[in-house]
Amino acid sequence: MRLRNVPNAHEKLAACVNYISDPQSFKGRWNEYFKNDNPIYMEIGSGKGQFIIRLASENPDINYIALEKSPVVLLHLIKKIPSEGLGNLAVISFDAGKLEEIFESGEINRLYLNFSDPWPKKRHAKRRLTSPGFLRLYKKVLKPGSFIEFKTDNRVFFDYSLGEFRSSGYNLIKATYDLYNSDFLEGNIPTEYEIKFHNMGVPINKLFAVYDMDNLKEEESKIDLQTQE
Ligand SMILES: C[S@@+](CC[C@H](N)C(=O)[O-])C[C@H]1O[C@@H](n2cnc3c(N)ncnc32)[C@H](O)[C@@H]1O
Repeated sequence: MRLRNVPNAHEKLAACVNYISDPQSFKGRWNEYFKNDNPIYMEIGSGKGQFIIRLASENPDINYIALEKSPVVLLHLIKKIPSEGLGNLAVISFDAGKLEEIFESGEINRLYLNFSDPWPKKRHAKRRLTSPGFLRLYKKVLKPGSFIEFKTDNRVFFDYSLGEFRSSGYNLIKATYDLYNSDFLEGNIPTEYEIKFHNMGVPINKLFAVYDMDNLKEEESKIDLQTQE
């Protein structure tokens, strides 16, 4: 996503009640920020925020974190938040490579990776959000039994990611090369990139992976698996 530089982007973000300028200070105590013990679901690379803001608006009993490294991109996201704010949303400008600085082990209950940059060149492979280093890192902050949901328009990146999830010890619950013609489209919330590619006729790929299947809660497996049958 190419966007022009905006001077004082961080100061502008600070005017939003949902923006957190010092996420390190909440490590291990995100429940204090949200003022409840509800589960925390996080999108990494939230972009302009359509997906996470709709989820947060529709599911008040779940807490959401929008994590995006570009403060300029987040200026677009915060415009979509209602003026009174959303009590179950935290917006963070941060690099996912440093997740352990802001989360304690097991603090996150679900991860969404939507249309992550594919970084096609081999020398940039470590930057892919589904590369082995990132998949190891996610295990350090995810609660055992948690889901990762990944969507992309890029078939090569998707096939690479399927392999990396498998070899990193995640359980692949379900995957499709064509979400819009699959039996688990119901409840899908599209992102900005998804709408663009879908309207161009590009098939959307999606996978659900679980970190530590043995700890998957009965309730949770029912909810997710039902939508895929
Ligand atoms: C291609 S955009 C997709 C945006 C949105 N998820 C969508 O589907 O419309 C990828 C986003 O991921 C962000 N991103 C890439 N690497 C990141 C990282 N290591 N940590 C946090 N955000 C990252 C980029 O800044 C960009 O906004």
